[in-house]
Amino acid sequence: MKKKTTILGIETSCDETAVSIIQENGSDKPSILSNIVSSQVDVHKEFGGVVPELAARSHIEKIDMIAKKAIEKSRIKIEEIDAVAATAGPGLIVCLSVGLNFGKTVALSLKKPFIAVNHLEGHALSPKLNSKINYPYLLLLISGGHSQFLSVQGLGKYKRLGTTIDDALGEAFDKTAKLLGIEFPGGPKIEEYAKLGDKNYYSLPKPIINRGGCNLSFAGLKTAVLKISKTIKSNQDKYNLAASFQKTIEEILCEKSKIAFKEFKKNNKIKKNIFVIAGGVASNKNIRYKLSELSLKEKFDPIFPPISLCSDNAAMIAMVGLEKYKHGINNNLDFPAKPRWPLDSKAAFLKGAGVKL
Ligand code: KG4
Ligand code: ZN
Repeated sequence: MKKKTTILGIETSCDETAVSIIQENGSDKPSILSNIVSSQVDVHKEFGGVVPELAARSHIEKIDMIAKKAIEKSRIKIEEIDAVAATAGPGLIVCLSVGLNFGKTVALSLKKPFIAVNHLEGHALSPKLNSKINYPYLLLLISGGHSQFLSVQGLGKYKRLGTTIDDALGEAFDKTAKLLGIEFPGGPKIEEYAKLGDKNYYSLPKPIINRGGCNLSFAGLKTAVLKISKTIKSNQDKYNLAASFQKTIEEILCEKSKIAFKEFKKNNKIKKNIFVIAGGVASNKNIRYKLSELSLKEKFDPIFPPISLCSDNAAMIAMVGLEKYKHGINNNLDFPAKPRWPLDSKAAFLKGAGVKL
């Protein structure tokens, strides 16, 4: 019987220590044999954001134990692993270094290939863990650090169509949450508050909605939320602000997605257009619903990772490892940690570009 390719994935780019083992099983998608994620929410919550030094320490303390758990849960023998894939960037360098060095050491001791993975490519390929997806496809990546529309042409082949010129969407959710007195990371709580509020109560701006192509901007929205938050008197006001904020985000994403659809279709003449939405913010059910509705109307097939695989995890890193392994791609053990590692290396750096748009 042909041996099934088995990949060990490792993720420590920010505040999640994660290890996963996935295995090809002859179908269109691999089996996730184990997927252990240890979150550091309790370490950082009193600081209102991730403290790099504390995050790195926590990764160092936990990585061995998380890897051991992942191997035990998978019920494979460590010798059965065909390659080790670890996130090499982008992210906090002190955090990246922990998982990257751990991965290199495991690969060296097992005498198996080492594969350096771009964390963003992990999110980009995460829906492949549960759906068959052919290239090319349009991707909206919405996480705590990034908000981009990308045309995914193939493994490692990305063309950026639009990006945020200031805050990332997850950041906008977290900052709004903070203004409402919610602990970091507040995105999921905003979703809960929004269910209790009137989404039409406050009118909020949609920065650069009619210009800048499918580029995004959330800084002006944050300023408006800041002003309103000072007038808040009751819990109901908080729920109304959360609902109005979430509705505004849905409208921005829908308007900008329409522009991205046009751009994507101009350069890709294919029968079936696919729209993948990934990253932590893609776990928001209202955003999922609105973007699905729009996609179907515009004849794009909407695909999301399951909610459990939207936020940072190592199964998505192993997924990239599996694709690279099948293409015979691996890396030397001197591969560096890359705090900045854009998927489209030709795209211009746009942060702070507001005035030029
Ligand atoms: O992809 P991710 O886990 O980490 C990064 O790579 O950044 O994304 C984390 C971000 C955080 O800003 C978090 O607040 C946001 O995703 N998030 C949400 C929801 N769940 C997580 N934002 C809105 N609604 C949610 N349900
Ligand atoms: Zn992420």
